[in-house]
Amino acid sequence: MALVPTMGALHQGHMKLMENAKKLADRVIATIFVNPKQFGPKEDLAAYPRRESEDFEMLNASGVHLLFAPSAEEMYPEGYATSVHVGGISTILDGAHRTGHFDGVATVVTKLMLQSLPDIALFGEKDYQQLVTIRRFVADLNIPVDVIGVPTVRERDGLAMSSRNTYLTEEERRAAPTLFAEITKAAREIAGGSEIVPTLQAAKEAILNSGFKSVDYVEARYADTLNSYENSNKPGRVLAAAHLGKARLIDNVPIQP
Ligand code: PAJ
Repeated sequence: MALVPTMGALHQGHMKLMENAKKLADRVIATIFVNPKQFGPKEDLAAYPRRESEDFEMLNASGVHLLFAPSAEEMYPEGYATSVHVGGISTILDGAHRTGHFDGVATVVTKLMLQSLPDIALFGEKDYQQLVTIRRFVADLNIPVDVIGVPTVRERDGLAMSSRNTYLTEEERRAAPTLFAEITKAAREIAGGSEIVPTLQAAKEAILNSGFKSVDYVEARYADTLNSYENSNKPGRVLAAAHLGKARLIDNVPIQP
């Protein structure tokens, strides 16, 4: 049995997880839960898109066997007091910019896994740090679930599909693919032996020049540990987060030496 956790407002990225889950397991459970514990006090919990009836239609059409869409009270009843904290890997990058975010993710994913006891659970590489954080606590806590990563599904112009893309105005939407274009260029140059710091700096400037308001980070990291990348033959990842209008967009691509 396969578990595919989501926060709803489903798009083709989510549906790719469902499709892969169906290939790997005889039964697929999807979950929709906009998890309050992974949003900071100044973040977009209230504004987060909710489209339950459309989501339900999409899941039905995809052949998912069961949808679990609990309320916040069901997940965190009065007296709830436990949190899963993953040190190191979850405290850098997005963890440094969104304090407590990955504790919220680790807590809810642990609960969803224990509630459904699946053989496998699927997560997107789109949220790359989330994927490695989940691999970490699943191993550390001996949770008997195989974690499977699925490559990012993109729009035709390269923008990674995301429920948060709906926050973008038409003009911002036209600027958005620059994030992917610049980290792709940087990853290719680093794989070719370019110096890392100036390459990342150039990407950051190009992202800002295209209309992004601010850049939280553009970093090159080893794919497994997320430690700083040094030119080598090991697999790496260029990861970025930047603000465009009301949206905070994240993306990442492999460094293939
Ligand atoms: P959400 O953003 O809804 O994403 C649900 C799953 O879909 C995650 O594993 C995410 O990485 C994957 N996904 C999103 N966009 C994708 C894309 N363009 N291509 C491939 N996969 C994509 O991530 C969360 O929800 C939450 O943090 C959750 C894990 C459900 C815990 O609350």
